Amino acid sequence: MTTAGNLLGIDIGTSSCKVVLIDDAGEVLASETASYPLSIPREGWSEQNPEDWISGTRDAIAKLQTTADVGGVSAIGLSGQMHGLTPLDADLTVLRPAILWNDQRTAAECEEITQSVGGLDELLQLTNNRMLPGYTGGKILWMRNQEPALYERLSHALNPKDYLRLRLTGEIATEVSDASGTGLFDVTARAWSRTLLEKTGIDPDILPACYESAVVSGRISRTAAEYFGLTEGVPVVGGGGDAVIQTLGSGVVDSDILQTTIGTAGIIATSLDSPVRNPDGRLQVFCNVSPEKWHCMGVSMNAGGAFAWLRDILAGRALGAAELSFDRLIALAEKAPPGSNGLLFLPYLMGERCPWPDPDARAGFLGLRAGHDETHIVRSLLEGVVFALRDMHALMQEVGGDTVARLHVSGGGSSASLWNQIQADIFDAEVLTVRGAAEGGAYGAALLAGVAAGNWAGIEQAARVCVAEHRWQPNPANTARYRELFDIYQGLYQLLSPTFDKLSRYVKATE
Ligand code: XUL
Repeated sequence: MTTAGNLLGIDIGTSSCKVVLIDDAGEVLASETASYPLSIPREGWSEQNPEDWISGTRDAIAKLQTTADVGGVSAIGLSGQMHGLTPLDADLTVLRPAILWNDQRTAAECEEITQSVGGLDELLQLTNNRMLPGYTGGKILWMRNQEPALYERLSHALNPKDYLRLRLTGEIATEVSDASGTGLFDVTARAWSRTLLEKTGIDPDILPACYESAVVSGRISRTAAEYFGLTEGVPVVGGGGDAVIQTLGSGVVDSDILQTTIGTAGIIATSLDSPVRNPDGRLQVFCNVSPEKWHCMGVSMNAGGAFAWLRDILAGRALGAAELSFDRLIALAEKAPPGSNGLLFLPYLMGERCPWPDPDARAGFLGLRAGHDETHIVRSLLEGVVFALRDMHALMQEVGGDTVARLHVSGGGSSASLWNQIQADIFDAEVLTVRGAAEGGAYGAALLAGVAAGNWAGIEQAARVCVAEHRWQPNPANTARYRELFDIYQGLYQLLSPTFDKLSRYVKATE
């Protein structure tokens, strides 16, 4: 096998690190993962030891070396979980465990940041995004408020993949997509928001230099070459936050193509030619890894996670029964008709981020009758997850074009043909799975590395290697049924949100 022009993508995920080796035509030659633990020291907290990302990357590369030659790659790209805070002191020592994207401890600090600039409208003027509790900005303030002695020593605040970059190359740098997800970045100007930093009292010097995503940010150092089993001097490109770079890895570079991911969370994203206004900050409008483009997405907290919840219940896990397979559950859903005979699933099991930023939102099955059985319950859950994606898309339609040429789907959910058909029917658009998308952010990172190495003339050209693998066409009769049902679904949150508030108050009072 020749290795000239091969590329390596590395993704620092939440549960594991993934490394993908591709050739200069975008073909996946090999991929490996190495998992690491997640720590939940308190309810709502989520942390990781940054050293685990480093040893995980080394282990995954070592596994890859057994079947492929990683040493000969011409460039390396990085992807990673967004919004995390890796705090370092002046000697580049990690000060405390990294605080991750799904950590919810910073509600008060997010409010503090929003108020420091005069309110949500003013914040949106500066960054075009809300300061969500998961974002890095609130975490920096949390350290200032809660861990003042450590904060005194804070010299660098890095996102997870940028900490890996430091260990690979010795460079302290980030790129525009991950910088957007800190909440401290002016996505229109593609630069740190000096005004926001000044008003919140965050020292700009703790933030890394920020480059466009396809720029070479450093080269593999001698120490890193030895530790990771890589070759000294190989260029490392900026890369991107996983949710952003995954759109490139799914071949989505145009605004009329939607990318959806049904993983634990549900993501709907597209590429934009301008940084559109973000309505009430309910979407996430970030810089794209493409220098002339932006990225618009909605993230629902309830997708594959909701499916796993139902699977455990139907399997009778609490009664000690064995696990039910994904395929068996999907086969059950296949027996129910589209629309599940009027059973609707409202998926807010984990509260919600988009289109309703409401941690107190609650889930429910609505419309249950004695005639409904497991088949309807599973199918309505699959449908409810897709309605949640469609609901976020309705918000995207307020700012972008109405045309949807097709959907490129990825994530664990896309391995179920039925779920893909439901997406085609609910969105009334063709659905495709594309080559490489199953590798997630790591594939997008490898493509970006290829752009920097000159394998492709640009990002659009690189995206063309994501050729279609399988296709699903909308069924007009199903689409008509779903349109009616979606109308009902869309009214439910506003109808029920006073009840959600009452239930949350009840639960807090009885805890
Ligand atoms: C994106 C987001 C997640 C994380 C974890 O906004 O919160 O996709 O990047 O993967």
